[in-house]
Amino acid sequence: MQDLDQLRAQALADVAAAASLDQLEAVRVAALGKKGTITGLMKTLGSMGPDERKAAGAALNAARDEIACALDAAKAVMESKALDARLARERIDVTLPGRPETQGRIHPISQTIEEITAIFAQMGFMVAEGPDIEDDFHNFTALNIPPEHPARQMHDTFYFGERPEGGRHLLRTHTSPVQIRTMLSDKPPIRVIVPGRTYRCDSDMTHTPMFHQVEGLIIDETTHMGHLKGCLIEFVRAFFEVDDVPVRFRPSFFPFTEPSAEVDIGCSREGGELKIGPGAGWLEILGCGMVHPNVLRNCGIDPDRYQGFAFGMGVERVAMLKYGIPDLRTFFDSDLRWLKHYGFVPLDVPTLSGGLTR
Ligand code: DAH
Repeated sequence: MQDLDQLRAQALADVAAAASLDQLEAVRVAALGKKGTITGLMKTLGSMGPDERKAAGAALNAARDEIACALDAAKAVMESKALDARLARERIDVTLPGRPETQGRIHPISQTIEEITAIFAQMGFMVAEGPDIEDDFHNFTALNIPPEHPARQMHDTFYFGERPEGGRHLLRTHTSPVQIRTMLSDKPPIRVIVPGRTYRCDSDMTHTPMFHQVEGLIIDETTHMGHLKGCLIEFVRAFFEVDDVPVRFRPSFFPFTEPSAEVDIGCSREGGELKIGPGAGWLEILGCGMVHPNVLRNCGIDPDRYQGFAFGMGVERVAMLKYGIPDLRTFFDSDLRWLKHYGFVPLDVPTLSGGLTR
């Protein structure tokens, strides 16, 4: 079997020389495939005598196994090299930040409205909206502010021109008209908050002609002043993220609520730094009260059966207090450096479970 030694040596040399899995497969086919050289020799066994066949058969099997083993080993080496190469190619650095730093920022007004909404949504409030351009009825009259009422002067209203059919449209001076719209369109129980733009003809350090408010309204058969207090105390603590912030309800007057109150939160001013929490000072943050029976009546709701509370707060004001923004007018300067400093990362949506501010 001189042939066999040669073929075997050749096949092993080919295995050693093969540079790819394809070449290795070609070597296998050439030696051990159906028409391979070793297979060819196997086919000659039938023509041999018994003794000769025994010896040649054993030698052939040994050669075939040896070549098969060499093929397997070479294949394993190549596959592991290929895997290493792929792992190196597809390597990821798990220490890199999960998402690239975004350039844009969420404006503090949007962020604050999101935060307020998240808190009240948790308490079961729905978000309601209304138009920026209102009429006298929704902005004043239905809210128990009749014509000639002094409260109208306090609102510094922007009026549009006289309409042919009489009366003038106006830019809403507060979000309270959406209370009226909601009570006219929905039946109690009602539980809504209303974030939105509001307008007053006023401009100085602490006033801009356009600003934002969030209104709240609950109407049902049982809600009383205790609920109003509990709800707003809960809100203030969640919003300012200070568990022991003192909250004070101070008697006040609004035409659309009776009784009415203003809500103050505690603060300290040590070393010139304003800090929300226990301290000697107070800051007013919102107005509230039990919805006036006249307002219910104006919306076709029976005040002997239904009652509830309302509140309204300035978004800029609470944002300035929470985030230490000193000047109201900077909110609307569209200064990118300001926005980069005071703005929020767009993908960090405020939630109560994940944290309002991160
Ligand atoms: N609308 C009032 C304002 O702009 C704020 C307000 C006070 C709203 C008391 C209310 C409320 O709903 O009950 O000054």
